[in-house]
Amino acid sequence: MGYRDEYDRAATDPEGFWMDAAQAIDWDRMPSRALFDRGGPVPEWYCDGLVNTCWNAVDRHVEAGHGDRFAIIHDSPVTESVARLTYVELRDRVAVLAGTMTARGVGTGDRVVIYMPMIPEAIVAMLACARIGAIHSVVFGGFASPELAIRIDDAKPKAVLAASCGIEPSRVVEYGPLLAGALNQAEHEPDCILILQRNRCHAEMQEGWEDWVAAQHGVAPVECVPVQADHPAYILYTSGTTGAPKGVVRPTGGHLVALEWTMTNVYGVAPGEVFWAASDVGWVVGHSYIAYAPLIHGCTTIVFEGKPVGTPDATTFWRVMADHEVSVFFTAPTAFRAVKREDPKGELASRFDLSALRTIFLAGERADPDTVEWIERTTGKPVIDHWWQTETGFAIAANPMGLEPLPVKSGSPSVPMPGYQVEVLDEGGTAVAPGALGAIAIKLPLPPGTLPTLWNAEERFRKSYLTTFPGYYETGDAGMLDEDGYLWIMARTDDVINVAGHRLSTGGMEEVLSTHPDVAECAVIGAADPLKGQVPVGFLCLNAGAQRAEADIVADCVRLVRERIGPVAAFHQAVCVPRLPKTRSGKILRATMAKIADGETVATPATIDDPAILDEIRDALATLGRGRG
Ligand code: COA
Ligand code: AMP
Repeated sequence: MGYRDEYDRAATDPEGFWMDAAQAIDWDRMPSRALFDRGGPVPEWYCDGLVNTCWNAVDRHVEAGHGDRFAIIHDSPVTESVARLTYVELRDRVAVLAGTMTARGVGTGDRVVIYMPMIPEAIVAMLACARIGAIHSVVFGGFASPELAIRIDDAKPKAVLAASCGIEPSRVVEYGPLLAGALNQAEHEPDCILILQRNRCHAEMQEGWEDWVAAQHGVAPVECVPVQADHPAYILYTSGTTGAPKGVVRPTGGHLVALEWTMTNVYGVAPGEVFWAASDVGWVVGHSYIAYAPLIHGCTTIVFEGKPVGTPDATTFWRVMADHEVSVFFTAPTAFRAVKREDPKGELASRFDLSALRTIFLAGERADPDTVEWIERTTGKPVIDHWWQTETGFAIAANPMGLEPLPVKSGSPSVPMPGYQVEVLDEGGTAVAPGALGAIAIKLPLPPGTLPTLWNAEERFRKSYLTTFPGYYETGDAGMLDEDGYLWIMARTDDVINVAGHRLSTGGMEEVLSTHPDVAECAVIGAADPLKGQVPVGFLCLNAGAQRAEADIVADCVRLVRERIGPVAAFHQAVCVPRLPKTRSGKILRATMAKIADGETVATPATIDDPAILDEIRDALATLGRGRG
């Protein structure tokens, strides 16, 4: 069956389609049916099934005789080391860590925060939670203490599993003080804290913290605990419109089925092959395609602790692909833009044997045609853009390379995947004609594995995603469907920006800036950046009688965002302006400011309070070297 048949079957016979897909998973109790409508915000999947994620990702491969196959290759240019873990070794490590947590009272349904860099132990920690039905919440290492504290207070973890440090090319990021700071700020107190001491930097142990190795000494391994299929596998916080992150809940059964389906049908990869997603376990790409999907499918996954450039240079990606015979590679376009900047002619790749590599996938932000063409030219391999979100956990639109490779249209992530009934709607919720722009929405039900709710925030879930277009999930992206059914993603419809593939809230940054005593009002926009896609730019209106010089206030604000949100926000630019452009009803015209910053011609909005303000914004942006298109 080709793409069209599979897509149509999922639409007309979702029960049959998704029950068939569920056969690829080992169930402790097969669900009686696929779709359950239990009166929650959205229909859910496989609810009465019993299953364990760790069993499916690890133990079953050992049972099937593949225990000697490598499960994880840790390639770490920042520590100049490579380590390999077989499926048997992975199972044993996971089972002992799971036993260690069990002995400390962590059980099914308890939350566990994981704060670790790109090391195999991060995956071991995630799987150990899955083994005992604990719900993990991984926090990205580039976030500062307050962000970690917010997540600790929302998830209320019984345990925190952390490493002593992460290693960035320019510095060692000490997690110890960051964790201690977060625990000081948080109201919630975890019972158990395990710290993995890395050679590069040891954390100063606080009261109640236990050493990762010592805690596991002599602990007996524990078996997998089956959970209901609708049990949350994990919570992953992502940026929304405000500074309070949204805790996306991932349901266990649907997650397993959907990820397994994508490995065969989207990525076209076979068990035993090497799959590499160069992302971070702190993001959804890392959850789905570093930790879970490759292991569920019996592949070898690469945990890469480095950057596309600077560790040590722009050959790193090619070296890793060649050394480990990577079959399928997945990263964000920004990573390749970084490589392309160092090697515009694409000469470095030819020094490496890339014969094992079949396909390169891109996601996380718009794939600009220049970069896509450079990758194609440099590697001679197909480059496949696909579009998804933390909320969905796997591709909404892709070119299903395993099922049926479709013609590529540069700039489009191709077609909706089975289970996603994608429509482009106008403001009134009516589908627009092919080729017309609108809000991208997905008709309910969403397919298995997608979010059933937000952690502790069902009302926010409804408001954020379900109320604008009743009967649909609102993606927050705008774009169009063309005559051939290909999707084109144009922009976010909310205040979320995408910085180097990292999803960030401008609202969150504004909340931080407005805490500065001299700032009366502020706005943050995403301005175009040749490397990172977008970077934040702040506009500050100062209080009358502000004592400090403008340059000092800007410097304070840059520091504040770094301290409160983290370096990953890449907030380096802000300007002081006399006032902000607003509609007569008081809404700040951020989209207009972003267009000016990008040098686009803007028609003065009819609703603007005072058009002269736009000239003030132009002048301010010119001081940052922006906006003169
Ligand atoms: N822990 C601590 N700090 C981190 C971090 C982590 N895990 N990841 C990033 N940071 C810090 C960086 O050190 C940097 O700090 P600095 O301001 O002191 O330099 C800052 O956060 C911004 O980092 P980053 O976004 O990585 O930018 P960069 O300029 O260092 O590198 C790229 C640019 C394009 C090479 C890099 O962004 C990249 O590889 N991106 C891949 C995108 C990706 O994986 N996206 C995930 C979705 S698929
Ligand atoms: P995240 O939840 O961090 O994965 O970010 C999801 C958002 O990133 C989407 O809503 C899009 O705005 C953007 N995005 C992800 N993939 C793509 C893509 N292939 N093309 C355009 N935008 C993308």
